[in-house]
Amino acid sequence: MKTNIVLYLLNCFLLIGFSCKNEMKVSNEILLEQKVEALLKQMTLDEKIGQMSQIRHFEENADAHILEKFIGSVIHTQGPTPGNSAKEWQKRFIELQKKALATRLGIPLLFGVDAVHGQNTFEGATIFPHNIGLGATNNEELVYEIAKITALESQATGFNWVFSPCVAIPYNEKWGRVYEAFSESTAITEKLTKASIKGHQGNLADATTVMATAKHFVGDGATDYGVEGGETTLSDAEIQRYLLSPYKIAVQEKVAAVMASFNSINGISMHNHKALITDTLKIGMKFDGIVVSDWKAYSRFNGIEVVNAGVDVLMTVDGDLNDFQEGLKKAVQEKIVSTERIDDAVRRILRQKFRLGLFENPFPDTTLISKIGIKKHREIAKKAVRESLVLLKNDNQVLPISKEIKKIVVVGEHANNTGLQSGGWTVNWQGSTENYKGATTILEGIKKQAKGTVLYDKTATENHFDADLAIIVVGEIPYAEFFGDIGHESNQMQLTLTEQHQQYIKTYTEKGVKTLVILISGRPLVVTNEINKSNAFVAAWLPGSEGDGIAEVLFGDYNFKGKLPHSWPNDVTDYKQKYGPNFWDKTLKPLYEFGFGKTY
Ligand code: BGC
Repeated sequence: MKTNIVLYLLNCFLLIGFSCKNEMKVSNEILLEQKVEALLKQMTLDEKIGQMSQIRHFEENADAHILEKFIGSVIHTQGPTPGNSAKEWQKRFIELQKKALATRLGIPLLFGVDAVHGQNTFEGATIFPHNIGLGATNNEELVYEIAKITALESQATGFNWVFSPCVAIPYNEKWGRVYEAFSESTAITEKLTKASIKGHQGNLADATTVMATAKHFVGDGATDYGVEGGETTLSDAEIQRYLLSPYKIAVQEKVAAVMASFNSINGISMHNHKALITDTLKIGMKFDGIVVSDWKAYSRFNGIEVVNAGVDVLMTVDGDLNDFQEGLKKAVQEKIVSTERIDDAVRRILRQKFRLGLFENPFPDTTLISKIGIKKHREIAKKAVRESLVLLKNDNQVLPISKEIKKIVVVGEHANNTGLQSGGWTVNWQGSTENYKGATTILEGIKKQAKGTVLYDKTATENHFDADLAIIVVGEIPYAEFFGDIGHESNQMQLTLTEQHQQYIKTYTEKGVKTLVILISGRPLVVTNEINKSNAFVAAWLPGSEGDGIAEVLFGDYNFKGKLPHSWPNDVTDYKQKYGPNFWDKTLKPLYEFGFGKTY
């Protein structure tokens, strides 16, 4: 009886507490909307169009444009960095922010960055495995932690908005951005999308959190033949069924932004797709954040049609700014674009700026600088590296390697080069083939673990055939959008290993040396022969800055945990128009099924 009364009282207390909290949230939102409306009312058309424009920090006259053209946001991606140290980056952005605050209405700027696996544009930041590796971990707590650190290190370098996560569901491994997405599985993509947005955004208003962006809406990973920005020929029902659900999750998580995609759907460019952007995303899903365009959308996708489709912020880069601002102003005056549409865009921008707390705290926190690339962050990255490794083959218990092993030869450029192990969007847009600050190589990790001799044979020409084990690290060279598409005329991407890398494996296996192959790649490759030839085979994806984490698993300090986030092809002929779970040709049998991964 007594416990019943206590329980009853506790229940009432909780209920009251809960409804109080809810009411507070509601009234905060009402208050916020009032602030948005009050500010919007004071704005001229030029000021509104300014908020919809995004420029680069290094463009000629960037400072003057902020003052005179009322720019709403600044982007950093490839190109000159804002300085040589985080302090200088912050300083540059503080300088620009002061310009924005000096305008008539003093609306602060958003600063956006392509931080897609850590704050990867800043050398010295913690670089995590690319999303495909996180898909292999299928660990939402880890993805949450990683997103939190990425947000913090982004803020530390002056940003309050990241263009991540990519929530694509890749259906074709020929696409050069497969690695930016978590998995071909909708369920894994949904789960990790949720964790990533939670981690990035937190309560949004903290000095360590940022706005996240779910991208690229929609169909980016499902284009025919895996062509970036190509044509996606899916029916409405298929789009609904396979591609929209990560966006629904993102919207439920209150994602601040969604980026429109370069591809078309059934002949309509996504940047002009009012039915999907306005009707489905904004109205249907009740998305109240910002729809941001992709690169240079105004000149690429029929000018003001982009705005009419429902895009709110345009990346007006590489000479697009004046054309956009003048074109849109004229279109509004001629009633080709309605003032309601402009107001909808600006409301969304202001709403996010208020939610970020930007009006009260427009400047980055200088005390965060000392947290960039710290050990605590790198430990999380290393954990992600360990958990992302997928063991595909382990004959005769080659693994775990005994620490007492007498002689190991490590082969391949990828074994000792942090740029190569990290893939695209690392320091540079298309990645780097050089070592970068703060990162460790795979070879360094092996040297830390092995007590015996470790030799390095970069190009398999030194004939260390008396070694007890050859660890051969091979894979793709870094690439990002467009350049990573297989079949793209400007690159040498292929579905198989290069002749040279195949030769590394042949050289040692033909001499009877026990061989472990580590594959560094942004997607499954056709490596059936190489798997057959070697004794053990590990898919390591693109591990990022903590290459030494790999050896901790190879030498048995940790077990393998990773499971394939994509089914693994058997033969190059497996690559038809579509490749993936929903378009799977049932007569094809993958070499390894989705979800495969051995353990010790
Ligand atoms: C990419 C986006 C990226 C944007 C800004 C585009 O080319 O498709 O993913 O966020 O550039 O750099």
